[in-house]
Amino acid sequence: MDEAAPLLLFDSGLGGLTVLEEVRRQLPQAPVIYAADNGGLPYGTKTEAEVAARVCGLLGRMSERFRPRLICIACNTASTIALGMVRDVLAVPVVGTVPAIKPAAEQTRSGVIGLLGTAATIRQPYVDRLEAEFAVGKVLLRHGAGELVGAAEAKLRGLPVDARVIARAVAGLREQPRGAEIDTVVLACTHFPLLAEELGQAFGPGVALIHGAAGIARRIVHLTAGQPFRRLQPDLALFTRADAGLDLARPALQRYGLERVEVL
Ligand code: DGL
Repeated sequence: MDEAAPLLLFDSGLGGLTVLEEVRRQLPQAPVIYAADNGGLPYGTKTEAEVAARVCGLLGRMSERFRPRLICIACNTASTIALGMVRDVLAVPVVGTVPAIKPAAEQTRSGVIGLLGTAATIRQPYVDRLEAEFAVGKVLLRHGAGELVGAAEAKLRGLPVDARVIARAVAGLREQPRGAEIDTVVLACTHFPLLAEELGQAFGPGVALIHGAAGIARRIVHLTAGQPFRRLQPDLALFTRADAGLDLARPALQRYGLERVEVL
């Protein structure tokens, strides 16, 4: 194993930084490339075929160019649609990000769990399977809250978060039958933990927000156990399109240790 081979984290935008934060905590010495398909953002409103084609194509190109030791798809939409396909076409280990339904089902006391994801994620058979396997006897209420993606992207760029967007996401769960009983909400989109403070306030103190970042980082630690790591140059943020938002994002990227920015 080349000690400088990076971990490649991939998302449609900057939501995957919530996964990177945990990876940094658990593997501070690992060289990282954070790749955002900002040219394809948002994934949540696309068809399965569109998401699968983008994710497989981009990860193929990026693997060839950067030779990562491991890829983490730090995006629930991309993972629930294309994880299997990416694993079929790439030889490198691939870790996905899928809704944290299992820990939510273990933790809920009321038995009613909310799930906020993108419109594409909440309709995936992958989510049906997680529900059938881990949430037997519980009620899982889903809501597509794609608007939160834009709000999270704005927040990272230092722009204000529209409180109405937060309120609509919360109402989308609360107003469903038994929604008032929700005590645990799965943040099934990597962008949403960036809004944990706003969502936490809007749901109120009786609701726990759960996401999978720490578990994903543990999985990466496990899969890279014993491997040497050496960072030979500052970590890279890679984008698929040059746009004005990149400059606004730079301070946030630096906070996550991404000192270099490139466009693919
Ligand atoms: N961050 C992505 C996820 O976890 C979705 C954002 C998008 O719609 O592109 O689902």
